[in-house]
Amino acid sequence: MYKKLNILDEKDSLLRKKSKEVVFPLSKEDKKLIQKCIDELTFSQIEELSKKYDLRPGMGLAFPQLGLLKRIIVIVYEVDEGVFENYVFINPKIISSSEEMIAADAGEGCLSVNREVEGHVPRHARITVEGFDEDGNKIRCRAREDLAIAFQHEIDHLEGILFYDRIDPNKPFFTEDEMRLI
Ligand code: NI
Repeated sequence: MYKKLNILDEKDSLLRKKSKEVVFPLSKEDKKLIQKCIDELTFSQIEELSKKYDLRPGMGLAFPQLGLLKRIIVIVYEVDEGVFENYVFINPKIISSSEEMIAADAGEGCLSVNREVEGHVPRHARITVEGFDEDGNKIRCRAREDLAIAFQHEIDHLEGILFYDRIDPNKPFFTEDEMRLI
């Protein structure tokens, strides 16, 4: 039987803690868990499999969501229908970001937040992320639009920040004139 990842709920105080830098080499367990995240995020975005395994669709996970305060993020991005790209970043750092801000018009979701939260989350439209792959090689990625949002969302988890922290309670929604909504 397929055993699902145990993803912490937002009420868990661990999600509010800052994660620690990872020291290489990575443990076997961590590598296994990264692969499991890739698999499950991929399955969750394929309708037939998401139903079969009862998975909520999601494109990213950060290790604190699994109860481990380690600076590891995994993103599975559907570039084309049924075509997925995986991004595994260890100790990720945003080294540059655009002045232009965007927000997902439909709002953001999180596998740790099991409820609908309305509101626009301002994010940088383009960012450059640096970090390390599983073998400790330095890697870099330029991301824009929804992939840039995913990176910022996951890196926030490493700081104990949840997406709705960034929704302004006094102004939860923006107009197209105020911010580009995607
Ligand atoms: Ni999340």
